[in-house]
Amino acid sequence: MEGVIDHHMRHALTSVGGYDACVTEFLRITDRRLPAKVFKRISPELGQGGQTTSGVPVSLQLLGGDAEVMATNAHKAAQLGAPAIDINFGCPSKIVNRKLGGSVLLREPERVHRIVTAVREAVDASIPVTAKMRLGYEDDTLALDNALAIESAGATELVVHARTKVDGYRPPARWEALVPLREALTIPLIANGDIRSLDDYQRCVNASGCEDVMLGRGAINNPSLARQIKQHHHGETIQPMSWHDISALILVSSEQMQRDYSHKYVVMRIKQWLGMLRKHHAEGQAVFDQIRKMNEVGEVEDLLARYTY
Ligand SMILES: Cc1cc2nc3c(=O)[nH]c(=O)nc-3n(C[C@H](O)[C@H](O)[C@H](O)COP(=O)(O)O)c2cc1C
Repeated sequence: MEGVIDHHMRHALTSVGGYDACVTEFLRITDRRLPAKVFKRISPELGQGGQTTSGVPVSLQLLGGDAEVMATNAHKAAQLGAPAIDINFGCPSKIVNRKLGGSVLLREPERVHRIVTAVREAVDASIPVTAKMRLGYEDDTLALDNALAIESAGATELVVHARTKVDGYRPPARWEALVPLREALTIPLIANGDIRSLDDYQRCVNASGCEDVMLGRGAINNPSLARQIKQHHHGETIQPMSWHDISALILVSSEQMQRDYSHKYVVMRIKQWLGMLRKHHAEGQAVFDQIRKMNEVGEVEDLLARYTY
């Protein structure tokens, strides 16, 4: 998730467990092949076999509307060691859509097909090409056409965020709208949107019939959600994270972020995380209220450390 889940957050979340795979923030492709350093910046995991430190593969996500340029960049990403290439057909941003990338492409299933075909042909058959889309741009009428276009172009998996571009991020996600897509596709369909708890996960599976889900904001609000889902699958005891453990996780992440980012930026990221955590954890609100006035990373860490004793 752009501006929210970078490699530090992927490291933190996958260290908690439960993830089979994750995806980078989108890399915007316009009219040229990007240099290697840009790929490595969006996915530092390329330097460690394309996996997080916990061994979870990190797919590299490309966003763009020019099939040829997308293909050239996918080839480069694969050369650099990306374990999979994901194509973004879901981004609702005005700037991105104006440049013909993200969800606006869902108005043209033939173009979606051309992009996926070109990317598929540009990378070795051993590297999965996957896609992420919304139900549509204005409405759902082309949802099935787009899903079938993606499948017939050779994608091995499709994630669908169960909203249109016009729906934005407004709840509820319409999981039941995924049923016709699941019935028509032979590749795995992965449900996404508004899964913030184990209960949401179960309701999503029941409504969509999809066995697999992708977590978005819920992964950050509730850092052990993927692990809880996995434990539920395996019939194991569900272990939600305590606030003590979450504080310890943020502290470790703070230390790691300081290797790459300025103190000011680290404080901003911690505030952002707490702003999301407070939606799921009552303790998060009190901590957020105190931390929002702080500017020094040391002060923030001292406060968090009090919760880890
Ligand atoms: C701030 C923000 C950034 C996002 N960035 C990306 C992105 O880079 N790539 C992507 O595929 N989806 C991105 N998304 C969409 C999420 O992955 C997800 O599809 C969406 O939030 C719905 O799931 P949720 O309701 O569980 O959050 C982003 C969402 C948000 C809120």
